[in-house]
Amino acid sequence: MTQSEISIGHPHQRLRRLRQSAALRDMVAEHQLSKTDLICPVFVTEINDKRTPIASLPQVDRIPLTELAAEAKRIQNLGLKSVLLFPVVDPAKKTNDGREAFNPEGLIQKAIACVRQAAPELIVMADVALDPFTTHGHDGILDSAGRILNDETVAALVRMSCSLADAGVHFVAPSDMMDGRIGAIRTALDAHGSTETGILAYSAKFASAFYGPFREAVGSGARGLDKKTYQLNYANVREALLEAEYDEAEGADLIMVKPGLCYLDILCRIKARSTKPLVMYHVSGEYAMLKAAVERDWLDEKPAVLETLTSMKRAGADLIVTYYAQWAAEHLLK
Ligand code: PBG
Repeated sequence: MTQSEISIGHPHQRLRRLRQSAALRDMVAEHQLSKTDLICPVFVTEINDKRTPIASLPQVDRIPLTELAAEAKRIQNLGLKSVLLFPVVDPAKKTNDGREAFNPEGLIQKAIACVRQAAPELIVMADVALDPFTTHGHDGILDSAGRILNDETVAALVRMSCSLADAGVHFVAPSDMMDGRIGAIRTALDAHGSTETGILAYSAKFASAFYGPFREAVGSGARGLDKKTYQLNYANVREALLEAEYDEAEGADLIMVKPGLCYLDILCRIKARSTKPLVMYHVSGEYAMLKAAVERDWLDEKPAVLETLTSMKRAGADLIVTYYAQWAAEHLLK
């Protein structure tokens, strides 16, 4: 018998049998998306005292501290488990070295305390990098020749992490891509007495064209700002595997790949090697593309979002950071 006779004619090979009804398809589905998978990014602003929209991120607002408690309660009531906080800092406070990042009275420190108080069940995570606090928008400290200084930047990130731990953050999330920062932060947090503060490491963060709307949201520099001396080259796989391996060895609790859709293969490869929970960041530009197509009525939002986020689960994501978190909790998920 030939191969095609077997697959067409043999009654044991009717794979469509398991696709006959929604109930059956659900029963044999290998991956399911749930609210507990989603981490909700929140932009907190000190520039305005009202919620302000972000043109390239429809339905995502910058939230002033005065409205953050209500926002956090809303997120908790939607059944989401976690937020990832980003600050929109007053330009007058930005410097070359970004020292506002570890001001104990700074915006992000206040935001952490506010969310902890308002929504005690939420896991509070906060980005660790200098870009919201620097005049140039880079994640690190520049020397006079415009090079990013690795170890000086790591020292600042360590101070920032301890300051966020003091404010009550559950996870610090270093997104800067400096070498050695996970080990340095873990060592410092432990010495600081913050042994229970976790690290969500942006391990494989690629220099991507898809961060533009985020940079508009936090006002951290031009869309095309070149971060290629520290973020990964998207032509490479093995470098990403090494980053994940080192971050795990240095004490990361959660390993992240970023962006999402263009990097599913990277996530899948790391999944085969790491036993840590993995996180995928469905970034701002990916959200913006979906929203733009939906606004033109070129795509149906619910199935497009469900397919996108489920593909990340299938590739190996245990958790997904997405600007769709609140919308999905409301409209898509049980
Ligand atoms: C900053 C940071 C960026 C994002 C998260 N943290 C931007 C960048 O590296 O320039 C991007 C997130 C997104 O696009 O949704 N360290």
